[in-house]
Amino acid sequence: MKLEQRKDLLGIRDMSREELELILDTAIPMKDIIKRDVKKVPALRGKAMVTVFYENSTRTRTSFEIAGKYLSADTVNLAVATSSVQKGESLRDTIKTIEVMGFDLMVIRHAMTGTAHYVARNTNMRVINAGDGTNEHPTQALLDMYSIREKKGTLEGLKVAIVGDILHSRVARSNIYGLSKFGCEIRVAGPSTLMPPEIEKLGVKSYYSLDQALDGVDVINVLRIQKERQQSGLFPSLDEYANLYMLSPDRLLRAKDDVLVLHPGPMNRGVEISSQVADGVQSVINEQVTNGVAVRMALLFLMMGGSRDEITN
Ligand code: CP
Repeated sequence: MKLEQRKDLLGIRDMSREELELILDTAIPMKDIIKRDVKKVPALRGKAMVTVFYENSTRTRTSFEIAGKYLSADTVNLAVATSSVQKGESLRDTIKTIEVMGFDLMVIRHAMTGTAHYVARNTNMRVINAGDGTNEHPTQALLDMYSIREKKGTLEGLKVAIVGDILHSRVARSNIYGLSKFGCEIRVAGPSTLMPPEIEKLGVKSYYSLDQALDGVDVINVLRIQKERQQSGLFPSLDEYANLYMLSPDRLLRAKDDVLVLHPGPMNRGVEISSQVADGVQSVINEQVTNGVAVRMALLFLMMGGSRDEITN
């Protein structure tokens, strides 16, 4: 099975469980490559990809770039802040300009919901959504699912709490779409002002009490408080938020003994998560970053023509 028939990867919502499993399964041998002394295979030799980030990023952009390099693709980053975007060049003209240079695939992040979909409709390049506004961040959900499955052995039937700024979180949405396809019980917790009004229509249960939401869960995914997206007044202060919603060692006791703690990064330590928890034994936050490289390698490989059999044989 290949992902060749799918031109773009724009969101988890429209993906089948089989497609998700294919990517997660293909990421396993990719992770082995990352651990080697010589981290390079010729799988994507002759392919070219470009990362175009209109919003800041450390993990996603860098991991896409190194994932492409480990697979021998030619990878280029368009530095938007020093590009002709700053001279007023439109998104459409920017995409066309990149396309005619011969790139096979573009990874794009943009603050506006739907941008990756717009780009995909207007280019022959394959497009991967690296985050569009508050809509989706599909590769974050894939690496989160990979990290959970690797530790727990399965995703099936797990109780997962997603905590914090659900309203602005594309990570939350992509995780909800993905984990639902594996029969997880998903709980979302946060202040009422950061909870989308109709969130339960996505098949999740919402909580305003963090302690209740954490009761007996297998996994806690802590979201970043997104100061850059917030109107003022959604919560009184960061101190107030931390008092009610920061994941602390005491609160962690509500969950199962072998609970996993995830965070997409970057973290606001002392706001949504305490350093003791972030650096504690239940945390897989650093492993998530490594797994992000493996999952993105799998995706690039599958989208640019490889089949899983080629990498495992
Ligand atoms: N998790 C995530 O998207 O991190 P970056 O913003 O650093 O890419």
